[in-house]
Amino acid sequence: MPLTRRDFLQHGGIFTATLALPQVAPPAQQPASRFRTNLNAYSLAQFVDPLPIPEIAQPIDHRPSPENASIKLPYYRVAMRQIEAKLHRDLKPTRLWAYGSSSPGPTFEARSGQGILVEWANELPAQHFLPIDHGIHGAEADKPEVRTVVHLHGAKAPAESDGYPETWYVPGKSAVYHYPNRQDAAMLWYHDHALGINRLNIFAGLFGTYLLRDDFEDSLKLPSGKYEIPLVVYDRIFDLEGQLNYPVSGNPKSPWTPEVFGDALLVNGKLFPYLEVEPRPYRFRTLNGANARFFHLSLANGQTFHQIGTDQGLLPAPVETKRVILAPAERADLVVDFSSSAGEQIILKNDSVNVMQFRVAKAQSIGGNSSQDRNALPSALRPVAKMQESAAVKTRMLTLVEVDDLAQRPVAMLLNNTHWNMPVTENPVLDSTEIWNLINTTDDSHPVHLHLVRFQILDRRSFDVAAYWTTGKMNYFGPAIPPDPSEAGWKDTVRADPAMVTRIIIRFEGFTGRYVWHCHILEHEDNEMMRPYDVIAAP
Ligand code: C2O
Ligand code: CU
Ligand code: CU
Repeated sequence: MPLTRRDFLQHGGIFTATLALPQVAPPAQQPASRFRTNLNAYSLAQFVDPLPIPEIAQPIDHRPSPENASIKLPYYRVAMRQIEAKLHRDLKPTRLWAYGSSSPGPTFEARSGQGILVEWANELPAQHFLPIDHGIHGAEADKPEVRTVVHLHGAKAPAESDGYPETWYVPGKSAVYHYPNRQDAAMLWYHDHALGINRLNIFAGLFGTYLLRDDFEDSLKLPSGKYEIPLVVYDRIFDLEGQLNYPVSGNPKSPWTPEVFGDALLVNGKLFPYLEVEPRPYRFRTLNGANARFFHLSLANGQTFHQIGTDQGLLPAPVETKRVILAPAERADLVVDFSSSAGEQIILKNDSVNVMQFRVAKAQSIGGNSSQDRNALPSALRPVAKMQESAAVKTRMLTLVEVDDLAQRPVAMLLNNTHWNMPVTENPVLDSTEIWNLINTTDDSHPVHLHLVRFQILDRRSFDVAAYWTTGKMNYFGPAIPPDPSEAGWKDTVRADPAMVTRIIIRFEGFTGRYVWHCHILEHEDNEMMRPYDVIAAP
């Protein structure tokens, strides 16, 4: 059987970026053409740059809380700017769009129950440097090219601070958002969410992490300080000048491509970096920040990870695993113990490809926190009470659909066969519980994300897609499969696997108002695989 594009995607698609790109001179004035010759990222020396650690964001003021003017909250200001950054020792500086002065942007440190205010200022140039598809809804030619709006992914935030995709603003404007932080400790992340160009804005560099902490987590005495490190992993494509090259379809009228995979793997803004570590446990707050790539992470020496948390915080107990799967936007809180690897060099791999290298020192630094070093990982973390199906007042059947042209090329992706502009169909009542059945009729796994809420995965079950299309009947093959132990905590993004029904159970808490749910493959999200939803007050 010939290998199809779909087969490529299922196997990670690592070759798609560098395959068969014709060696043609770039046409003049074409900012990002498929005809630009790509850099082969594997030709670069690996592990020559130290892993950058983004700086911690600092408040510049204290200002009244929008909920209660007598309370003053820390006030931050983060400007989105065009920057030039060295992504590798042997690459020229790369033009990026950043929050602050680096991509990833500054890391927020916040405490549960203590709100903050952030002014997100758009100070970008008036022109985009990546190829906009004006045929995509919300990105029509009459819209300004450069539009941004920030979403804090995983936050239980009021709707007016959630970064609704239509509430974008142009260079020279800003928005002040309130993050109340009334939720458990977790690794959240902020990124752009502008309608129709989100995939380009994030590809350009508009993302950063947000660590929310609480007393319970502190009591576990997990590795902290310099032993706790964010790892934002993502892929990009570069041209021979070291500039980002966002691929296009070849049809100038519809440059959108269904998924973007790059051969250049970056962690925290460097290609194939290294990190010097001590022979002791480390906590790695790991995020898949890619547009479309799923990561399958492992350590080349066969050593295990202890996964202690997922998207929305701590798991009930550590899960020991050799392989961590992360779909776009998913997070894994990982403890890696280098105690018995003194003097070794350990490569973090994505399948068979190198991501970064850990250089373990021969001995632990003097003056390290030695009492903490001896602390074994607790065998129990935060209890996660299993949500009861009987609590659900509503079950929704929601299809994931790919729309193809006659040549079987995807032209759009839909949720429940509805477009962004159609009336809202998902309208849960505040403080009620629902079950959403994500019926994936496509050949791809789609990471489905809901704003505002956390949820639990009930199960996944394969079904007869053809029969479902022709008769509307749901015929299951085999039993329902419970979530993997590494997913059996609080989630905000779930892999809806191909030809399966993925069931999640959600309690809609916090705020009423308009939010969104969408596939987090950014090319899908931009091309209709996103829908508004309303949390409504109880009648
Ligand atoms: Cu990462 Cu709509 O979100
Ligand atoms: Cu989100
Ligand atoms: Cu998708």
